[in-house]
Amino acid sequence: MKLSGKSALVTGAASGIGAAIAAALAREGARVAGLDVNPSACEVSLQADVTGDSAVAAAVEEAVRRLGRIDILSANAGIAIRKPLDELTAGEWDRVMAVNLRGVFLVSKYSLPHMPRGGAIVHMASCVALMGTRNRAVYAATKGALVSLTRNMALDYAQRGIRVNCICPGFTRTPLTVNLFSDPEREAAFTALHPLGRLGESEDVARAAVFLASDDAAWITGVALPVDGGYSAGHAADI
Ligand SMILES: NC(=O)c1ccc[n+]([C@@H]2O[C@H](COP(=O)([O-])OP(=O)(O)OC[C@H]3O[C@@H](n4cnc5c(N)ncnc54)[C@H](O)[C@@H]3O)[C@@H](O)[C@H]2O)c1
Repeated sequence: MKLSGKSALVTGAASGIGAAIAAALAREGARVAGLDVNPSACEVSLQADVTGDSAVAAAVEEAVRRLGRIDILSANAGIAIRKPLDELTAGEWDRVMAVNLRGVFLVSKYSLPHMPRGGAIVHMASCVALMGTRNRAVYAATKGALVSLTRNMALDYAQRGIRVNCICPGFTRTPLTVNLFSDPEREAAFTALHPLGRLGESEDVARAAVFLASDDAAWITGVALPVDGGYSAGHAADI
């Protein structure tokens, strides 16, 4: 087991990619606290909204009280709105920014003091941070910002032995995307965007998160790792 003796805090742990990461970290021997608005199946389940300053501070304190310290932070809580910019309301813009970006800021801010032995932070960005994708204005803006945040945090915390990386998944089957894939024609169109010929599964992303969290990635920091079946490599069409 790669993560025996490690403690992990995972946000968005109640569903989809975050739930798969929490389970994969636990299988590798880590003790896992899940932070989500919903209850999670983690050893420690903490219910909080990642956008709330004092709520996140309290949840992180509780995680540390139960687990002792934090070695691994995996930040997955996120929401998506599928609209072009002119159709977004200011409230929708603010909410997606708050969950996807402020949430990562707050969870990282309150976790960092509890990483005394160094550790690994893995943010969940998206392939839409690397490739323009229609109708994703605010979602893509948050994910692009996460890639920048990852690089800057990697530099700020390298001397403390904390590695900071992010994953950019392609389109992955989760409750977040279930409506996108409900129509078979549309599902085929999404699948065709991925040269490896299938959509992602949460487990595909979880394996990459375990890698980045483990000592196998000991000399890797500041990267945005596409885990996307080739989506960001370019056009898959045979032209
Ligand atoms: N599914 C995909 O195709 C895909 C692709 C690229 C990136 N991502 C990213 O992966 C992450 C996980 O997405 P998913 O597909 O597993 O979605 P999901 O909806 O299945 O899971 C998201 C989890 O985040 C939690 N959450 C949402 N808002 C929260 C808040 N304010 N406070 C606390 N918890 C909150 C939800 O309760 C849920 O458990 C997201 O950041 C998403 O942007 C997903």
